[in-house]
Amino acid sequence: MDFKESLKDYQNIVNSQLQKYVRKEECPENVLNDSMEYSLMAGGKRLRPILALATYKLFKNDYEKVMPYAVALEMVHNFSLIHDDLPGIDNDDFRHGKPTNHKKFNEATAILAGDGLLNGAFIVISEDLKNSDSQDLPNKLQVFNEFTNAIDRMIAGEYVDTEYEGKTITNELLEYIHKNKTGAFLKYSVRMGAILADASETEIENLTKYAENIGLAFQIKDDILSEEGDEAVLGKPVGNDKEMGKCTYVSKYGLQGAKDILDKITNEAIEIVKEFDNSEFLQELALYIKNRNK
Ligand code: IPE
Ligand code: IPE
Ligand code: MG
Ligand code: MG
Repeated sequence: MDFKESLKDYQNIVNSQLQKYVRKEECPENVLNDSMEYSLMAGGKRLRPILALATYKLFKNDYEKVMPYAVALEMVHNFSLIHDDLPGIDNDDFRHGKPTNHKKFNEATAILAGDGLLNGAFIVISEDLKNSDSQDLPNKLQVFNEFTNAIDRMIAGEYVDTEYEGKTITNELLEYIHKNKTGAFLKYSVRMGAILADASETEIENLTKYAENIGLAFQIKDDILSEEGDEAVLGKPVGNDKEMGKCTYVSKYGLQGAKDILDKITNEAIEIVKEFDNSEFLQELALYIKNRNK
């Protein structure tokens, strides 16, 4: 199977898993449930669960074990996007080519849909923990603990990103924002797959380095797309970072400078993951992150 087919396959698997958690029953809060579904099923790339599943598959095949944790990742990711788009943060009107959650519904619903998805992730994980065999628990608890810490870092990164809007910041602070806002969660996605698959300390360490590189690469590419992406393909606004006076890799290093850094860290990621057998998909995924146009 070529990379594109495998990616599609993974996306279909994740989408059908997520669909299971969509609430359809008639109830007073059914609009809130619809708004959660609206964002969760809006057409995201599913990069984080795919990283978790593909990393697990380096070691083992029974990836159903990872599913609750992969689903939880995507729920929290969508919580972060709904809140990121709110007027108090980025004030964006479009995502995935559709009105953002607060535009489609309203701000109160969007805030609560975000809260619902965040807590939804904890429901999914706690259900799995409750039903787990005792021999699986140490790894699962390790993963759960890292999950909560990754969310903590993402929120911290979002805060610093918002707080320093319109201000010039040092290269170090820019890296800090990217590593926390986006990198921490992508790093966790890979580590989760490796830990649940019982990888060795050294293997986890090397995969963490791979993940740190693609995590930063991912956000640098996000900065580049915000500068020169095609809005129709991207499905979210282009030029808004500049408009908001956001310090990004593009504003700091210039478009070419940002692309050079992106090339370098993508190659580093590939070199690291190449050491693993059957890592072709993860190698290609690093290239996909670099070359994506949405
Ligand atoms: C976008 O993430 C927001 C950032 C964390 C920079 P994705 O590009 O992974 O979002 P999807 O694919 O639309 O879900
Ligand atoms: C979103 O970051 C990151 C999180 C929500 C953690 P951005 O604001 O840079 O991403 P987009 O461009 O809106 O997707
Ligand atoms: Mg933002
Ligand atoms: Mg944003």
